[in-house]
Amino acid sequence: MHTILDFYARTHTPYLHALGREGTGYLLQQMAPKPGSRLLEIGFGTGQTLLELTCRFDGVDVFGLEKSAEMLRVAQKRFAFSGVSAERLQVMPANVPFPFPPHFFDAVYCESVLAILPDADLVKIWQQIRLVLRPGGRLFFNESLWRDGVSLAKMAKINEKCMEVFGIPQATATWPYPSDWKYLAEQQGFEVLSVVPMEGIRASLPFQADSRLFRSRIFTLAGKSSMLFSASLWKKQKLLRQLFQQFATKEPYLEGVFFCCRKKD
Ligand SMILES: C[S@@+](CC[C@H](N)C(=O)[O-])C[C@H]1O[C@@H](n2cnc3c(N)ncnc32)[C@H](O)[C@@H]1O
Repeated sequence: MHTILDFYARTHTPYLHALGREGTGYLLQQMAPKPGSRLLEIGFGTGQTLLELTCRFDGVDVFGLEKSAEMLRVAQKRFAFSGVSAERLQVMPANVPFPFPPHFFDAVYCESVLAILPDADLVKIWQQIRLVLRPGGRLFFNESLWRDGVSLAKMAKINEKCMEVFGIPQATATWPYPSDWKYLAEQQGFEVLSVVPMEGIRASLPFQADSRLFRSRIFTLAGKSSMLFSASLWKKQKLLRQLFQQFATKEPYLEGVFFCCRKKD
């Protein structure tokens, strides 16, 4: 097991982003896709958000690209366990040409993916997203970014430590603040419709009587409980807890920010 993401895959952990389940509730509320919409998630992790979309919105077509073969495997298992087809989930780093025609999607979204990418990949991904979105199509993303006032030196130090112990950076220091992401989006041919700090958001994923969602929850619980039967997972969880404590500070240095952008014609 090399990165914290491998641990989360092994334990079927969903909602790995700012505000967790509520954050996904907000995304769905903002996206509100119409029947017939084609949607793409980049970096879908264990697949929960794609499943929520499938179960909560009639007639949407969901697609996903994920770099990690392990995450894909777990998302496929989640879908199979929940009784949903996973044929449109693919393993593929999203910094190479996407396997979709131009103008194919009505919306693209990411939850905690863009800000942890290497700089060169990030620009390539923006270009690909622009290519596959239809004119006027929307891009939504929820990313944890640095708070104003955190110095570049502090970001570099935290990122170095995170790479060492978790195998991923905390957040890019090249585009550190929400204002940088607004600039980046505009540079890449998007109009920024809203930038919302997640802290002030009150959203939820309301209960829905759907056996597929219920089974997906069981799948999540099964992953969590696998720690009870695996000494290595148990140890890893303990270690991660200790490491998180080392990173805890009185003043939080990150903030979750939700962006809604529109592809300019
Ligand atoms: C922090 S996790 C978030 C997972 C999921 N979006 C969620 O919120 O639960 C980041 C995910 O992005 C994926 N990822 C990282 N780089 C990627 C890339 N270049 N293309 C596609 N996926 C990528 C990782 O494998 C991981 O599953």
